[in-house]
Order: sequence, then C-alpha cells, then structure tokens
Amino acid sequence: MSVMYIEGGVPLEGAWRVQGAKNSVLPILAGCLLTKEPVTISNCPRLSDVDAAVDILHHLGATCVWEGETLVVDAAGANHTCIDQGRMRAMRSSIMFLGPLVARMGKAKVSYPGGCELGPRPIDLHLEALTALGCQVHEGQGEILCQGRPRGGVIHLRFPSVGATENAMLCGVGAEGDTTILNAAREPEIVQLQQFLNTLGAKVTGAGGSVITIRGGCTLHGGQVSIIGDRIVAATLLAGVAAAGGEVQVDGVDWRHLSTVLQLLEQAGCQVRSGVDHIWLRRDRGAPLRAVPSIATAPYPGFPTDAQAPIMAVFATARGTTFFRETMFSNRFGHVAGLHKMGADITIHGTTAWVRGVRRLHGASVTATDLRGGGALAVAALAAEGQTVLDGLEHIDRGYERLEKMFGHLGAKMERR
Ligand code: UD1
Repeated sequence: MSVMYIEGGVPLEGAWRVQGAKNSVLPILAGCLLTKEPVTISNCPRLSDVDAAVDILHHLGATCVWEGETLVVDAAGANHTCIDQGRMRAMRSSIMFLGPLVARMGKAKVSYPGGCELGPRPIDLHLEALTALGCQVHEGQGEILCQGRPRGGVIHLRFPSVGATENAMLCGVGAEGDTTILNAAREPEIVQLQQFLNTLGAKVTGAGGSVITIRGGCTLHGGQVSIIGDRIVAATLLAGVAAAGGEVQVDGVDWRHLSTVLQLLEQAGCQVRSGVDHIWLRRDRGAPLRAVPSIATAPYPGFPTDAQAPIMAVFATARGTTFFRETMFSNRFGHVAGLHKMGADITIHGTTAWVRGVRRLHGASVTATDLRGGGALAVAALAAEGQTVLDGLEHIDRGYERLEKMFGHLGAKMERR
C-alpha cells in the first residue's frame, strides 16, 4: 500500500484546472440507467468512487467505455435487478442506483450502502421518497427490496438530503405520473442533474430551489454532459494555498458554488478575486492568518460540510481561536487526531471543535480516516515544517484525482511512493 510523502513549507504558485465533480458524476452515472441510448460524459474524474459506479453499471448489464477523460455509458443491455453487498458497500452513492433501477425494471434488490465513516448515515429518506412514488419497499436480512412501477407523487423531505433528492429525481423521471419534491436539497450538483436529465428528454424544473417538479412518462434518449468543476477539490486546493502561502488561480470552477468558503478565507487575511469560471487566491507568508469567530456547516448555500476539514487545517495556524460546529454529520472530526500529531491545538466536544491557532505545525506520520479528512491532512502537511507521511490514501483516492499531481504542479513537494 503506497503512502504520500509531503515536504512542508513550500509556497504554492501557478494555475490548475480543477477536476470534474465527484458528487455530480455519481448520480449522473446512476441516471444513465433511465435511457437505452448511449450517454457521453466528458470531464469525468478518474476516481475510485467512479470506478465503483462503473462496476455496478457493468454488473447490471450496461457497457462503459473510457475515451481519455470521457466516459461513454450504454445501458441498452441492462437487465439485472440486484446489486450485491460487495458492490453496495464500495461507496455510499451506490444507493443512488435504487431509484432509477426500480423505475426501469419495476423491481430492485440491493443491500445497505458503504462509504466514509462519518457517523450513522441512514437511508430512510431515500426509501420514504420511493414509497411516496408508489414503490413497495421491504427491508430485511440486510437487504432492501423495492417493487412496482413508480407512478409519481408528492415527496416532502424531512431534511434536504442531497442523495434522497437525487434518488427521488431519478425515480420520478422514470415514473408514469408527475412528481413534486418539497424541501429539496439545493446543491449545484442537483442543478446539473436536472440539466442532464432534461438533455435526455426529461422535464424537470426547480432544481437549485426547494421545490422540484418532474413531468413523468417521458421516454429518454441519449445525450452528452460535461461534468461541472469540483467545488470541494477547489476548496481543498485554496485551503492549501491559504495554509502554505503563495498565489494560485483555480480554473474550471464557479466561484458562486464556493462563496461561503471564499468569504472565510478573505476574513482570515487572504486576497481573493473571482471571475466567471476561476478563483485567484493569494496569501502572503509574512502575514499570519487571523481566526474567525465561528464556522457552522449547513446545507447549500451554507458552508459545506465537505470543506470543514480542509478549512480547519487552515485555521490550525491562524492567530486566535476559531469555533467549528458540524451540523450535518455526527462524527466528522476524524482528521483532528492527525492534526494533533502535527502540533495543532484543537478541543472537541461532540460536534463542536475549538481550534486555537498555533504558530506552526510540524511534519508527522498521520493517517486519513475519511476522504475530506485526508484532504485536510494534506493541507496541514503543506503548511507544516518538515516531512509528513500520509497513510490511508484509499480514502483520498475516492474523491481527489491524483492529489499529489495537483499540488505538485503548483510547486508542492508531494510524492506517492
Ligand atoms: C452528499 C455528498 C457528501 C456531502 C453530503 C452533505 C454525494 C455523493 N455526497 O452525501 O459529499 O457530505 O451530501 O452535503 O453527493 N440523512 C438521513 N436519512 C437519509 C439520508 C440522509 O438521516 O435517508 C442524513 C445524513 O445522515 C446526514 C444528512 O442527512 O446527517 C445529510 O446527508 P445527505 O445530504 O443525504 O448526504 P449524502 O447524499 O449522503
């Protein structure tokens, strides 16, 4: 198993085009089941989570062919209705196949999904949504059986879950009648899912707002989609520059998707300028970062939970104390053990953390225990004095496409061996 060697203290300089968004491509891959014609997905990131989705599609009978950074999916031959435990456990987003699978086949059997350990991650909202669309859902012996042709309906989500909103959209598009989703999640990836489905001939409106409406009964054809830039990878890159110092332009990302993160980095003392599809950030190494009073995660357009860990790594060396409140997941401070080993002064109480900035971090041997926590440890290592050895790369590779290449291109000494 390889590990990452990171030599800290090198300012980052240059420009980088950010990869396609993991959280956008995964529901789109599940959505490919809704058409019997080919779908061409460009700017598709090469990630282990994408490999896991491709594996599920192959298993269900679809063909997936890579042409450089483009993935062509043809689900004409999809004829299986079951996804085994091994494939379901490979990632959390495997559950996204349930809605389109039952819409296409009238029946789907899956086990419970895996994914990063961030505390309990139930799927009750997904199952309630499919039930509201007329499917019969039975749970037992570790499996979920979903039966019946979805007929459309009204789904009132108790919480704006990203995954449940997407599963409901995917099932609703394959339903006979109309569907309305109330209290829908509003993330940019949901807007892209709507655009993708409409490109294939669906009639979905309202994504980006809290009410999504779907006209059922449309036969979908093939089409093309280019995946939007990954706002969380961009946030991690910018966090690296804020922590290590330097001047970098991130291309291929919409700054509006990151406005809360950019605002915080500016408050901390970074200079930020944004254009239509790029963000420029500069941090003078001579000027110390400043703490901000408090950061609380929230559904979009609030501060993203996925950026909490990388941003905490930035504030680990800011002057003063920053208070973090994680509201989305009950166990999302897995990175703090590694930050402690690097000299950070952080106290955790349940889902809150007090980060008292220290003058500097030092290199250490640390282990990523989840995807974004791994990003945070890499960010901290870039700012630290000396060498960090980062383990647990299998978590990082779920969502960062060659992290060492991205930071290495900007001058960081980061090597996988
Ligand atoms: C998605 C993102 C993930 C991000 C998260 C929150 C993808 C592939 N992943 O995950 O990167 O961290 O949104 O922005 O897009 N919940 C329930 N019951 C459910 C579903 C969710 O209680 O049926 C709870 C979860 O436990 C969590 C909260 O709702 O506390 C938010 O989860 P959700 O928005 O569903 O996250 P995911 O779609 O899993």
